[in-house]
Amino acid sequence: MAKTALITGVTGQDGSYLSEFLLEKGYQVHGTIRRSSVDFRERIAHLEDNPAFHLHYADLSDSLSIMQVIAKVRPDEIYNLAAQSHVQVSFDCPEYTAQVDATGVLRILEAVRQCGLADKCRIYQASTSELYGKVEQVPQNEETPFHPYSPYAVAKLYGFWIVREYREAYNMFCCSGILFNHESERRGETFVTRKITLAAARIAQGKQDKLYLGNLSSMRDWGYARDYVECMWLILQNEKPEDFVIATGEQHSVRDFATLAFRYAGIELRWEGEGADEKGIDVKTGKVLVEVSPDFYRPTDVVNLWGDPSKARRELGWNPQKTSFEQLVRLMVDSDMEKVAIERADEHIKRNLVEYLEKGIVK
Ligand code: NAP
Ligand code: GDD
Repeated sequence: MAKTALITGVTGQDGSYLSEFLLEKGYQVHGTIRRSSVDFRERIAHLEDNPAFHLHYADLSDSLSIMQVIAKVRPDEIYNLAAQSHVQVSFDCPEYTAQVDATGVLRILEAVRQCGLADKCRIYQASTSELYGKVEQVPQNEETPFHPYSPYAVAKLYGFWIVREYREAYNMFCCSGILFNHESERRGETFVTRKITLAAARIAQGKQDKLYLGNLSSMRDWGYARDYVECMWLILQNEKPEDFVIATGEQHSVRDFATLAFRYAGIELRWEGEGADEKGIDVKTGKVLVEVSPDFYRPTDVVNLWGDPSKARRELGWNPQKTSFEQLVRLMVDSDMEKVAIERADEHIKRNLVEYLEKGIVK
């Protein structure tokens, strides 16, 4: 019998890769989506004709919709990926972030219990390296103390502990993957990596003059999202329900990421100045292409994330270095170079069409 999985947050970066992964494994995949006045299904559009792929409306802040979808689908596995996932936005919308990222997790766990699925259904919770926040140890592993440092991280910490509580109190198979940053061609455009690769592609093709960033010295352990969804699945196939750190074990700064991304887009940068005065300058033309803007500083910023994936490697047999940092930056830049080139071609075609219409060459 094919297994049935329910993915919340199926329209997101991870949800789209996980759907592909589970469909390939023969699962029936159910995803939750939200009503929006514009179409946000770009990442899963290619899956919508697949008869094993099903969509349902539900919102993590709405218990009834969660209960309804779980009662209907009766999944073998739930992957709770839905979240207000932007750390900076969590400072602007702290209460909503708590509704979704903290009590939203409780709604899923309780719905599974109320539907009588506690013994059958395995639950994966998308936890985060942001729990380590103002870090107390490097690199960070499953034993490192937490020190959440944003409303997002505090909400996710509740999610982490309520999962552990349900595991111990009700013997449920529920686990957290403590995932470090993972990126891809499908990463949201306001996260720093994608903001950089898109800007590098636009600047290289004359569509943007400058890129404004916040803290250039912030350090992250960046992996490839496509590799990380395999781990979510492995965590639920494990014999025992346990929490795992998922990371590459390598650390780079935002500045390193930008240097490499611009290089792959054909621009060599040199860095001058410090702090808010630091600038990234095109070595060839002397033009300033990257500047710091305090708009992108956070009230409290997490600056030293570096994961130790030894447990996942040892116990799940997962390879944390399948895609290197250089390969990740390269594939993101290549994808954005192509995207910008297509946009330019479209604009060119539209301009010609308007001209032909105005001149009466076409009607
Ligand atoms: P993402 O691209 O921002 O996707 C978030 C998903 O959650 C989207 O499908 C979004 O739906 C959905 N969502 C947001 N609010 C919701 C609500 N109230 N009810 C139902 N669905 C809601 O995030 P991601 O990068 O794929 O990350 C997936 C999960 O992993 C998140 O929980 C994130 O916090 C966590 N995480 C991510 C990383 C990372 O580096 N990517 C690292 C650690 C943990 P819409 O499309 O309708 O907005
Ligand atoms: N977004 C953004 N934009 N970040 C910037 C910028 C900028 O212009 N300039 C510098 N940064 C710095 C941030 O201050 C932060 O230290 C770092 O770049 C990474 O920021 P994001 O890419 O926004 O990711 P994040 O680390 O805050 O959060 C992501 O990773 C978490 C796992 O550690 C998200 O995916 C979270 O959902 C996830 O839990």
